[in-house]
Amino acid sequence: MSIRLSNGTEIPIEMHKVRIVQKVRLARARERLTAIEEAGYNTFLLRSRDIFLDMLTDSGTNAMSDNQQAAMMQSDDAYAGSESFYRLLDAVREVFGYEYLLPVHQGRAAEHLLAKTFVKPGHIVPMNYHFTTTKAHFNLAGGKVVELFGPEALKTESTFPFKGNMDLGRLQKAITEAGPANVSFVRMEATTNLIGGQPFSLENLRQVKQLIEPLGIFLVLDGSLISENAYFIRQREPGYENTSIRDIVREMMSLADLCYLSGRKSCSVRGGLIATNRKDLYEAIRPWLPVYEGFFTYGGMSSKEIEAMAVGMREMCDLDVAGASADAIKYFVGLLEEKGVPVVTPAGGLACHVDAMRFIDHVPQSEYPAGALAAAVYIASGIRGMERGSVSMDRDEEGRDVPSDMELVRLAVPRRVFTMSHYQYAADRLQWLYNHRQMIGGLEFCEEPPVLRFFAGRLKPKGDWGAALAQAFENDFGTEC
Ligand code: F0G
Repeated sequence: MSIRLSNGTEIPIEMHKVRIVQKVRLARARERLTAIEEAGYNTFLLRSRDIFLDMLTDSGTNAMSDNQQAAMMQSDDAYAGSESFYRLLDAVREVFGYEYLLPVHQGRAAEHLLAKTFVKPGHIVPMNYHFTTTKAHFNLAGGKVVELFGPEALKTESTFPFKGNMDLGRLQKAITEAGPANVSFVRMEATTNLIGGQPFSLENLRQVKQLIEPLGIFLVLDGSLISENAYFIRQREPGYENTSIRDIVREMMSLADLCYLSGRKSCSVRGGLIATNRKDLYEAIRPWLPVYEGFFTYGGMSSKEIEAMAVGMREMCDLDVAGASADAIKYFVGLLEEKGVPVVTPAGGLACHVDAMRFIDHVPQSEYPAGALAAAVYIASGIRGMERGSVSMDRDEEGRDVPSDMELVRLAVPRRVFTMSHYQYAADRLQWLYNHRQMIGGLEFCEEPPVLRFFAGRLKPKGDWGAALAQAFENDFGTEC
């Protein structure tokens, strides 16, 4: 929730209180330089002890609620027929209105099962935008991802409220060209992760469904950030300003044929699921669940997480929970905009996204500006963000680098974890970095894995700019922080 102060300023206000905390440490600039060097300039390879604010991701890092923790205590560890599964099934039926549930250990496991079942060599999978693991699984199954975003989606500076919408004309064209029988399904991602956490509208989802249903193509929703997308619909789509998050989620589910999700985000646990009302889809996937994940009633998840997920699914429909991260992101983005630091607008879900192409426009895309900026942010602040640019794209079949549509540094805002002083600190250090942006240079790979290279790849700076940046920081702030 946001609240207006008497001087007119709007601030995000926490609708919860803190009862358990985790200590963090702010390493000195010299130590941060050593840590990022040891991590091969890849923030994924940093150790937690060297990180002050971990803004790598919101995945599995949200603060859980007291009720989630309490539910974990009553979990049923039965290998088969666990009561915990039935409690999650009740939540799925109540919140999504779906009959059938397949639990999986996390979101990419759902993607694996969908790819295994429905994606055939030569197929296309149209989507509003890909996610890294989604694309990897669909490509490995022989399918081709086609991204059918609208004209506003890739503009980092925009006021368009639904940059996650699918372009219907492009969708029609892609289906006609491939032939409906060669379309595995259409996938809509609730807040497009890689291009700034941008939502789609219910109107767009309805139009997509109307277009593909007569062609016998089914609609898959990636609902990892479903409650955030619903929150933006409530805030931005005319006619929904008084609709509850639960009713908006229900309406999205009634349009989709199947929803899968990473439970690590909106649901604030560590797990995932596939749910549907379509018995045919359910039965097609079901045989593979015990092969790859686990028995039908746990699917690779711990029973404790299943219990917490049932609670998390209901809680994510609480307006205060659905908006907890979105309102903080809006505030964070606003602070950076005021200081002239280039960020993606409008503020979306998941994170504040810094636009590396505008921040360091002297670093060419072939030298991975978002990767370089993520490392520089760490050196200047101890904040760990994530590269969402060309490092996150794997090479094509000919071994050529694939330039990403955007070069973003994602500063994730897990739900209920950080405070306003954290955002103020982050904005201040980013402003300092922006004033020293000419010092930041590019990166090159020294070790490069063939798939999802961003996870484990190691890079080095072109020139010694990392050390020079740490020195400049010390000159301004001293050696203590
Ligand atoms: N779909 C979306 C939209 C995601 O954001 C993610 C994960 C997945 C699928 C895969 O789910 O991690 O549970 O296997 N996103 C994380 C992130 C990793 O940091 O944004 P998973």
